[in-house]
Amino acid sequence: MPKLVYILNGPNLNLLGKRQPDIYGSETLDDVEGDCAALAAELGVETRFLQSNTEGQIIDWIHQAREDGAGIVINPAAYTHTSVAILDALNAFDGPVIEVHISNVHKREGFRHHSYVSLRADGVIAGCGTEGYRLALRRIVSLLD
Ligand code: DQA
Repeated sequence: MPKLVYILNGPNLNLLGKRQPDIYGSETLDDVEGDCAALAAELGVETRFLQSNTEGQIIDWIHQAREDGAGIVINPAAYTHTSVAILDALNAFDGPVIEVHISNVHKREGFRHHSYVSLRADGVIAGCGTEGYRLALRRIVSLLD
């Protein structure tokens, strides 16, 4: 059985490719999902790619990953900067966690410089565009090997 890696996406990322393309680029979330699935096949893992605009749904998926997930790649979007609840859920997950941001949050408004999720993440990738997801997936797999 291949190991399962969750790739979780927070609010507004369903609009990827349409919202603020100057910041987030023109690729859609479906494109990112396809890229991750292709890379996962190459790396010999399975991915479950999910997006929600709701904090509780993301927390429920992290709980599900406790049951069947080997690792988590997460772009918590705006919840990065606000959600102690997502941090707590990730703290209850034992496998590797990599946090991804498409934009370089450190080059942006001050409120984006703090991440609750970084208190748990084993690595953080920011400002590498949507390629950051593939970098994160590679890192998760090397941590799992
Ligand atoms: C983001 C950065 C966050 O600050 C923002 O709220 C997002 C996307 C990124 O991928 O660059 O929605 O996580």
